[in-house]
Amino acid sequence: PPVATLKAAAPFPMGSAVTSNGILNNYYYQGVLLTEYNSMTADYEMKFDITEPQQGTFNYAPGDAIVNFAALHHFRMHGHNFIWHQALPAWLLTFQGDAPAWENVFKTHIQTEAAHYKGQVASWDVVNEAIRDDNGQLRNEDATPGDGTGSIWRRHLGPDYIARAFVYAHQSDPNALLFYNDYGQEWGGIKLDSMIALVSGLKKRGIPISGIGMQMHIDINVDTAGITSALKRLAATGLLVHLSELDISVNPGADPNITFTSALQLKQAALYQFIAETYRASVPAAQRYGITTWEFCDADSWIPAFFNRKDWPLPFDAAYKKKPAYFGLLKGLTN
Ligand code: G3I
Repeated sequence: PPVATLKAAAPFPMGSAVTSNGILNNYYYQGVLLTEYNSMTADYEMKFDITEPQQGTFNYAPGDAIVNFAALHHFRMHGHNFIWHQALPAWLLTFQGDAPAWENVFKTHIQTEAAHYKGQVASWDVVNEAIRDDNGQLRNEDATPGDGTGSIWRRHLGPDYIARAFVYAHQSDPNALLFYNDYGQEWGGIKLDSMIALVSGLKKRGIPISGIGMQMHIDINVDTAGITSALKRLAATGLLVHLSELDISVNPGADPNITFTSALQLKQAALYQFIAETYRASVPAAQRYGITTWEFCDADSWIPAFFNRKDWPLPFDAAYKKKPAYFGLLKGLTN
C-alpha cells in the first residue's frame, strides 16, 4: 500500500507555516512539504514590516516566492497577516499623524496587499492577536505603555478598527475568506469569552468574517479539556475554525539540562493525536478549515530562539525525519 501522508489522511487541508528560504533553498524542507502538506501560510513574508518597509514602498517579492510555489504545486495559500501589533516597520513606530492619516496607513496597507494577492490567496488572517491575555480587553498602547500588551492600532484608530479591517480587505478581494486569528483559546476564561463576543458581534453586524483561527501554541502540560471546550464554543459561532499555528512545546519550564526522552516524545505524540481527534469530533466537517502546524521541522521552530531554550515542538526532527509526534498526528487524523 502507498505510504500514508498527513494530507492524504486528513479530511481537511493540512497546512504549514513556511519560509521563502526553506522552500527555495532546502531540498529536505521542500520534500517534506510537498509530500505531507497541501496548504501553506507565510511565516513572516506577508507581514507589514516586510511588505511596506518604507511608507508607500511595497515589497512583495518574499511573499510572491511563497505564493508562486503554492500555485505551482496546487497548495491552498492562507495569507498571514494584515493587522498585528508586532512585525511593524520602523517608520510606523514613529509615525506622526492625525486620525485620517492613521486610517490611510491602515487602509492602504490592507488594500494594497489584498489587491496584490487577489485570486492567489484563498484566505487571510485579517486581524491577529488583538485581545489582551489578562482582561479580554482590546490591546491598547495607552493602557500600560511598554508592558507588551499594547497595540498602536486600537490607540490611533479607535475600538472599531477590527471591523473596518475586515471591510477594507473584503473590498479589495471579495472572494477571500477572512479570519480573526489569536492564541490562548484553550485557557478558557475571559480571553476566550472576549474572542467569541468579538467574532459573533462582527458576524451579527454583517461584517465579512468567515472564520476564527485558533493558533494552538501549546505545551505538554496543556489542559486538554480546555481544548475540547474551546473548539465546541468556537464551532457554535457557525464560523470556520482553523487550527492555524499548531506546535507543542516539551520544555515550557525552560530546563537547560533537558533531553528529549522517549517518555517526552510519547507524551507529545499522544497530544498531537488528541488534537487531531478532538478537532474532528468537536468541529462539524463543513466548518473545518484545516490544521496548520507552525513550520514542521524542529530546526525551524520559532520557540528555541524566541524563548532562549531547548525545545522540540514539531512533527519532524532537526534532520527532517518523522518523530513520534508525526505518527500521533497521523493516527489522530485517520482512526
Ligand atoms: O527582517 C529580516 C528580513 O529582512 C530578512 O529577509 C529575514 C531573513 O531571514 O529575516 C528577517 O527577520 C525575520 C522577522 O520575522 C521579520 O519580521 C526573522 O528572521 C523571523 O524569524 C521573524 O520572526 C517571525 C515572527 O512571527 C515575526 O514575524 C517568526 O519566524 C514567526 O514564527 C512568528 O510567528 C508568529 C505569528 O505570526 C503569530 N503568532 C505567533 C507566532 C510566533 O511568534
